[in-house]
Amino acid sequence: MATTGIFLMIFLLLHLSVNLFLFLGEKPFNNAVFFMRNNFFIRIMEYVLFTGFLIHMVFGIKLHLQNKKKMEGVNYVINSCHKTTLFSSRTMIYTGILILCFLILHLMNFMIPMKYYHQHLNSDYNIVISLFKNPFYTLIYIFSFFILGIHLSHGFQSSFQSLGLSNKNRLIWIQRFGYFYFWIICFGFSIIAIWFFFSNN
Ligand code: HEM
Repeated sequence: MATTGIFLMIFLLLHLSVNLFLFLGEKPFNNAVFFMRNNFFIRIMEYVLFTGFLIHMVFGIKLHLQNKKKMEGVNYVINSCHKTTLFSSRTMIYTGILILCFLILHLMNFMIPMKYYHQHLNSDYNIVISLFKNPFYTLIYIFSFFILGIHLSHGFQSSFQSLGLSNKNRLIWIQRFGYFYFWIICFGFSIIAIWFFFSNN
């Protein structure tokens, strides 16, 4: 889970960097998407990404069920301790499910129309910015980035712990990087949606 989680976090940084080309205008963004779509290495990585995502989901569900089983029959005192654990760590399965729902919507909004139909009618840039003219989609997207941030804020720290890369001294730095990463992802993606919602393009 930790390895696939780190891989997905790297994907998000790359995805955000490509999306930031939207601020440079139509041609730079379309060129960036064209480059990503036609690059052999990136094409291979798409399959790796899909497999990584599946593995991450399957193991996540398995871990959740194992933890649930462990908690069954455990007395009230331990259960009340459990309540004091971080909100983000207790809700990983729910935030994960919401991210999956967002991803299905997102692929239907962008990847499928861009790759399989409209492309000759509309540029990639126009498909993206016209979506953010819709307040309903803009709100769903911003809400999903926030949920993604909650999921990542726990995922970042626990990945390092699971891989045995964390210790007492490093923990504080891992936590700081975790929050920094959370803000980059949450703010970076949201600013795109908000900017194009208010812009006159
Ligand atoms: C402002 C926010 C976002 C914008 C504007 C955006 C834009 C896009 C676009 C234009 C594509 C299609 C690329 C292509 O067909 O080649 C795409 C694909 C994709 N996006 Fe996003 N995205 C955003 C946020 C996210 C987030 C937060 C996630 C993850 C939770 C995500 C995951 C994906 C995945 C998995 C693909 C398909 C993989 C690929 O084609 O490379 N996106 N996105």
